[in-house]
Parts: sequence; structure tokens; C-alpha cells
Amino acid sequence: MGLVTGACFAELGNRVICADNDTKKIAGLKKGVIPIYEPGLKELIGINAKSRRLVFTSNIKEAVRTCEVIFIAVGTPALPNGEADLTGIENVARNIALNLSGYRLVVEKSTVPVETGKWVKHTIQTYARGRGKFDVASNPEFLREGQAISDFMHPDRIVIGVESKKAQTILTDLYRPLNAPIVVTDIASAELIKHASNSFLATKISFINAVSAICEKVGADIKEVALGMGLDKRIGSAFLNAGVGYGGSCFPKDLEAFITISEKLGYDFSLLKASRDINYQQKVSFVNKIKDALWIVKGKTIAVLGLSFKPNTDDIRSAPSLDIIQALRLEGARIRAYDPSAMEKAKELLRGVVFCKDPYEACRGSDCALVVTEWDEFKELDLAKVKKALRRPLIIDGRNIYEPGRMEKLGFTYIGIGRKKTKKG
Ligand code: UDX
Repeated sequence: MGLVTGACFAELGNRVICADNDTKKIAGLKKGVIPIYEPGLKELIGINAKSRRLVFTSNIKEAVRTCEVIFIAVGTPALPNGEADLTGIENVARNIALNLSGYRLVVEKSTVPVETGKWVKHTIQTYARGRGKFDVASNPEFLREGQAISDFMHPDRIVIGVESKKAQTILTDLYRPLNAPIVVTDIASAELIKHASNSFLATKISFINAVSAICEKVGADIKEVALGMGLDKRIGSAFLNAGVGYGGSCFPKDLEAFITISEKLGYDFSLLKASRDINYQQKVSFVNKIKDALWIVKGKTIAVLGLSFKPNTDDIRSAPSLDIIQALRLEGARIRAYDPSAMEKAKELLRGVVFCKDPYEACRGSDCALVVTEWDEFKELDLAKVKKALRRPLIIDGRNIYEPGRMEKLGFTYIGIGRKKTKKG
């Protein structure tokens, strides 16, 4: 998020310094090595680094001394108790305080629990000991992995939480070129908008996943139900795709953090707990579908198509694939996996899995194929070739990328999420 934000602000004509205490990452970036896979990012960094609008440094002091606006974009990972770990934020706040001079606008960009802004302000005040002036602001980022640049450049809205007119003017000017609606609030409201938005979207997914379970019981089709619901403008069709559940670095963590912070504030957010439970159950029910179809899982070979938590990214953080593969391995299955870009990262986490060079190779000699991530590549597979490669024509589609009728015609036993199961092929 930090890198995308930096590159995009540079593209908008600002001079940007991306600072990180990870010297290896910075050394790589200086040579044009991009540490993540994000479509278009390498090119954007290349152009802006060449024109020197975008520079990289591990010298935080220099960055703080040079820049008028400082965005904090460090990670806020979940602690074992679900709370967000704000050590990184506190570290940066102290660093800013120690190098403060003139006026600085310090902007929280990382997703943080409500009231973090208050603590950032307090920390800077405490450690700056009268050095320089500053304002704190909250400017949550809503970009999605895989389409981060276009999300940044064409946002639905920009949220800025401020305490002073000066901070408001600086941020409004910075975002003016994007021509998007700007919502100006106090800091706590801006912080809440981010957690509430992510939790709402996660709940929307859990809702449709819950409905998919009912569809399976009565022979209805979740895609048709979602279409019929989504055309109601008040509901909207986005985030109504039933599947194996949401993953990624944001939804699971943000939901957990929102539940925990609510609890701390004396409110039991049981709705979000239910969303979380349904998401967990969705993976269990997917594994149960596999067990039902294979009868005995022990000794079976299973092809897993897709490892990243969603398409167009190599990110496997909290990816449903990890839990599903782990459950199947515990049952004694052999796994042959393929993903267009997440295999390097998956290899570090998944032991005993055979990583294959393409989807057909993964299917070769397997007793069934699972679709876990809806990469376009899988939508365009030569299904006759898949059928030939498999030991039996069984596909369990965790993302509903194929049409049951077509699969039946092709002779597959096809099991989707919330859809009619086709007859045995
Ligand atoms: C999310 C938010 O969308 C973004 O605004 C925020 O800044 C960061 O978190 P991201 O995690 O990149 O973005 O992915 P997103 O596209 O939102 O998908 C999250 C998860 O939900 C994925 O695992 C995806 O497969 C799943 N999902 C999404 C569904 O299962 N069904 C849907 O209909 C939509």
C-alpha cells in the first residue's frame, strides 16, 4: 500500500520519498526490483524513479526532515488476541518526533483501530518536546490488491479525518487531481469509516455464502439469487460472489480488530462474529464437499488450482487455499498445486505439496481438481484436456467459474458453491 501510494502520488506530480527501515527492500527498489506483484506498479515506479520524482531511502531522518506531508503506511498485523499490533505505528511516530522541524502533517494511511490518531498525536507531542509543529490526520486507503493503481487513481471517495483547516487544505490540494468526492471528517470518524467499510464488505460476502448453503439444500442457484439481489440498487451486485470465503491481508485482520476494539469499548459486535464464523465454516464445508465426493481422501491425489487469496496477486496471506490444503493433507491426501504467480510464496509455507508448471500438469493423475482462486487462466482452460489428465472427471469449483450445464455436457461431475451438483460423469 505504501509503495503504490508513493508511486501514484509521484505520478500526480509530487516529489515523493519512500522510506523503509528494511534496507534490503530499499536496495532492491533502487535497482528496480519490486518486492510484490501488482499489475502496472513496476512500470509506474520505473517512469517516476527515472524522473527523480520518486526516490527510495532507508534514512528515515532524511525523509522526515525533507517532506512536508508524511504518510504512515507500516503494517498493523493481528496479534494472537485479534488486536492490531501498533508497534510499527508507534515506532514511526517516535521517529518523526525526534526529527521534527518546521511544520509536518502526519497522516495515518495504515488501517488502524479507532483512536490510534489520538495516540499518534500524543506520542509525537511527548517525544518532540517542543521541536517543530505538526498535525495528525487520518486518510484511510481503500485500494484492493491486483487493481491497486486504478483504485488509487479512480477512487469512489477520498476520506480525510482532520483537526485543523491547514491539514484539510493540504490533503484536499494533494488529492484534487483525482477529481473524486472528498469526505472530510474528524479523525475518529475517518478511522471508523475504514474498519466499518471492510467489515461491511466481509459481512456481505459471508451473507451470500450463508445463502449459498441454503441454495444447496433446496436446489436453487446462488448465482441467480445474487443476480436478482444485486440489481436492487440499494444492495448492489459487488461482493456478492459466493465462494470458499474471503482471505487476504485485510478482511480477516480488520474484522478481528474491529471485534476486539468494540469489545474493549464495551460493545459486543456479534454480527461481525457471525461473519467471521461463516467465513471459517465456508472452508470447512468446501473440504466436506471434497470428502463427500471422494469418499476416502487418504491416498487420493488432489489438484489445487489457485493459491493466492484472489486473482492477480501473488499474496497468500490468510488465503483459503492454505487452510484447505492443510485440512486435506491431514486427511492423507497428496496435493498437486498450480498458481500463475503465488507458487514462490506458497513453497515457503506449504511442505509436501507438489508444485506444477501448469494446470494440466497439476491435474495429471489426480482424483479431482479444485478451483480455489478464480484466475482468468482457469476460466479459459481446455476442459477436454483437463478431463483427460484427471484420473476421474471430478471438479469441485470453490469460485463458481464454470457453468454446471456445460460441465455436465462435457461429462464432468461438477460441484460448485450453492449450485446444483451435476450427475456423475
Ligand atoms: C480489501 C478491500 O476491498 C480494500 O478496500 C481494502 O483497502 C483492503 O482490503 P483486498 O484484500 O485486496 O481489498 O481484496 P478484495 O478484492 O476486497 O477481496 C477480499 C477477499 O474477499 C478475497 O479473498 C476475495 O476472494 C473475497 N471475495 C470478494 C469473495 O469471496 N466474494 C466477493 O464477492 C468478493
